[in-house]
Amino acid sequence: MALMSAVEYPNVAILGCGKLGQALLVGLLRSASGHPGRVKIRELKVTVRSARTAQLVRERISPLLRDRAVPPVWILQQDQNCNVAEQADIVLLGCKHSSLGELVHDLQGMRHDHRRILISLMGGVSPGLIVEALHFWTGPVVRAVCSVAVAVGESITLLSTSDDHTNDAESRRAVTELFASVGVVQWLPECQMHVASAVGASSLAFFAQMIEGLAQGVAEQHSNGANNAQQLPLETALAITAQAARGTAALLQQSTSPADLVAQVATKGGATAAGLRVLEKEKLVQTLRTCAAITAEATAALSQSAGSHGEDNTTDSKTSRA
Ligand SMILES: NC(=O)c1ccc[n+]([C@@H]2O[C@H](COP(=O)([O-])OP(=O)(O)OC[C@H]3O[C@@H](n4cnc5c(N)ncnc54)[C@H](OP(=O)(O)O)[C@@H]3O)[C@@H](O)[C@H]2O)c1
Repeated sequence: MALMSAVEYPNVAILGCGKLGQALLVGLLRSASGHPGRVKIRELKVTVRSARTAQLVRERISPLLRDRAVPPVWILQQDQNCNVAEQADIVLLGCKHSSLGELVHDLQGMRHDHRRILISLMGGVSPGLIVEALHFWTGPVVRAVCSVAVAVGESITLLSTSDDHTNDAESRRAVTELFASVGVVQWLPECQMHVASAVGASSLAFFAQMIEGLAQGVAEQHSNGANNAQQLPLETALAITAQAARGTAALLQQSTSPADLVAQVATKGGATAAGLRVLEKEKLVQTLRTCAAITAEATAALSQSAGSHGEDNTTDSKTSRA
C-alpha cells in the first residue's frame, strides 16, 4: 500500500454488507465522488450471504456508480470470503458478532500477509477476541465503531487504541484516513469502546425517535383535535426538526455547553420553558442517562457471546459486478 499525501487503498473488502456495511460502502463511494484526491480506492469487493442482500446492495449503489471517479464494486457471495480477503489490502468485517464463528471458518487457510489490515466493525467484539478467533491473521487488527451516518460522511468513528494489535504508525494512519473520509475519527482505549459506542453509534436511533416525537407533536396526523390549519404536514415537521437538531449539534460542537444553550433558548415564563417543564416532569434527562447506560452494558455483553454460535443460512455462489 502506497502511503503518500493521498492515502491509497488499492483493494478494500467488506465481508458482510448489511445495514452498516452498505452505509460504509455508500459513504466511501460518495467520498470518492466528492473528494477524489483524498483517499484513493482502486477496487471495492463486498460479500453477503443471500442473493436478496446482494440485490439490495446493487440497487443501493447503482446511482453512485454512474460517476467515473468512483471505484468499481464487486458484490460476491459468502463462499468468496477467503479469495476476497486474500486479494485485499484492507478487510472490513461487517457481519454481526454472532457470525464470527462462521466467518472464521470461511477464512481458514487464507494466505498470510503481514501488511493486510483487518478492521472489525462488529459490535462488542474486542481486537483481542478477533485476534484469538482469527489466530492465522498476521497483519494489524483494529476495532472500529462507526454509525450508519458514514453514508452521508457524518459518522463519528471510534477506533480502539489496542497497541498489541495495531502497533505501527502506517496502518494507524491508513485506518484513520479511511474513516476520516466518511466523518470524524477518535481513537480511544479499548476499555472505553463499549460506552462510547452507545453514544456514538446506537444514539442515532435515540435521536431519530426524539426528532420524530417532536415533529409528530405539531403534525397534522397527530393533532389531537387541534386546529388542523395550524398543523404541519409530518414531512415538513420532520425536516424542520431535523435541521434544528443539526443546529443544536453544531452549536454544541463549538464551545456552547448544553446548559448555556438551554439558557439561550428558554426565557422564564416563555413557550420553551413550558415545554421544558414537561420534559422535567417526565424525567427525560434521567431516562436518557439510563438508556445510554443500558445500551453500553448490552454492547459489553455482546462480547461474551461473540463467536459462540454461527448462523446457518445457506449460500448461493453467484458472483456479480455492480
Ligand atoms: N447497524 C448499525 O447502525 C451498527 C452500528 C455500529 C455497529 N454495528 C455492528 O455492525 C455489525 C453488523 O450490523 P448490521 O446492522 O449491519 O447487521 P446486518 O444488517 O445483519 O448485516 C450483517 C451482514 O452480514 C452478512 N453476513 C453474515 N455472515 C456472513 C458471512 N459469513 N460472509 C459474508 N457475509 C455475511 C449478512 O448477509 P445476508 O444479509 O445475506 O444474510 C448481512 O448482510 C454488528 O456487529 C453490529 O453490532 C452496527
